[in-house]
Amino acid sequence: MVTYKAKMVERIHLPPREDRERAIEDAGYNVFNLDAEDVFVDLLTDSGTGTMSQDQWAALIRGDESYAGATSFDRLESAVADVMGFPHVIPAHQGRGAENVLYGTLLEADDVALNNTHFDTTRAHVANQGADPVDCPIPGAPDPRAQGDFKGDFSLERGREVVSAVGEDRIPVVIQTITNNSAAGQPVSVENTRAVAEFAAEIDATFVIDACRFAENAHFVTERESGYGGSTVAEVAREQLELADAIVMSGKKDGLSNVGGFVATDDPELADRCRQRAILYEGFPTYGGMAGRDMEALAVGLREAVEPGYVEDRIAQVRTLASLLEARNVPVYTPTGGHAVYLDAEACFPHLASSAFPGQVLVCELYREGGVRGVELGSFAFPGTDRPELVRLAIPRRTYHREHFEHVADTAAAALERADEVTGLEIRTEPEVAELRHFTAELEPVSG
Ligand code: F0G
Repeated sequence: MVTYKAKMVERIHLPPREDRERAIEDAGYNVFNLDAEDVFVDLLTDSGTGTMSQDQWAALIRGDESYAGATSFDRLESAVADVMGFPHVIPAHQGRGAENVLYGTLLEADDVALNNTHFDTTRAHVANQGADPVDCPIPGAPDPRAQGDFKGDFSLERGREVVSAVGEDRIPVVIQTITNNSAAGQPVSVENTRAVAEFAAEIDATFVIDACRFAENAHFVTERESGYGGSTVAEVAREQLELADAIVMSGKKDGLSNVGGFVATDDPELADRCRQRAILYEGFPTYGGMAGRDMEALAVGLREAVEPGYVEDRIAQVRTLASLLEARNVPVYTPTGGHAVYLDAEACFPHLASSAFPGQVLVCELYREGGVRGVELGSFAFPGTDRPELVRLAIPRRTYHREHFEHVADTAAAALERADEVTGLEIRTEPEVAELRHFTAELEPVSG
């Protein structure tokens, strides 16, 4: 059951096919280079792209834009304490700003950070400190067909192997990303979070939760984890997050806002160290790169994210899109995760080697066929890794309807009908930092 209705709308249009053909060519076969107005259904990301509620819009008006001591900060601080259970909040302009503040405080050169799977900005911030980001996913996580309730879990076996190899002194930070974005948005059980908290304590590391999609994760726990069937999303969220020493948050996801983020902790000494770094990179600790009005919208959004109905509707939308695709025989990663449906591009184009970027080819075909924008998360985005060739269709919160998803599914089915005819892509220009290449690189069809 959907628990909201639209009150403000934005017109969208599907440009004619020849315009789409030209737009994707002009974009160097990279959908980050498209003009958003040339996109019909935009599933590039669920980050900052959602629809705010009337209460969030109303709260904007109340924004206190004082440099220091803004009441808007107090409201954000109380929302974080109530919803997430942490008394100290250091605001930042978005999630990666918070990552810079926290990991810049906790990590030094030659350290190792463990994570179920590092999201790309997390990996980059760990590396930026001269430290080594090591992933500890469970074995089935990369397999689009392996079943499991909590494929996002952190593998303690892998974590312990790394401890034996490098020694615990080199591991000051253990991170758990919930849900696990780089593992197809798969959830993490509270049991696994508890075990990872104990493991981090054993090796004297700070245990950090990347809480970007904490409400979605809590929903899966209420559905799937034994002992939590009678709990609310709000109860699970607090129980799981409170196991961490600190959290990093992007308000653009389960903060239901267009911008913002923060670090939160119950350790006053860590909070103080983070505030010092935040002043350098983000802003004074009572605004941290956010306008007062943005803190207001985020404070309201955090509370809405754990209200009954909200996250149930959201996960139902993701499942609707997945089942519409499956009904048209489009291969998708299963089980479906929290914020997106991931398409298995290798299964779509078995004739394309990973060096021909099958995922990026699929992304371009979706745009060409129906003006749909997704994002490649395979060999193009992650050079030098053996990640599966996935294409993510991320769903903005409270924004699209079933008709849009039907269009997306019809588009994907039409693209697959011509699968034999498509050719691969090769890179024409790329930036220096290989980890960031999918944002700006340009490609062209493989010649000959
Ligand atoms: N951590 C995770 C797990 C994320 O998914 C993101 C952003 C960040 C940190 C950084 O937050 O964008 O506010 O700076 N993910 C977006 C995405 C960009 O499309 O998945 P940010």
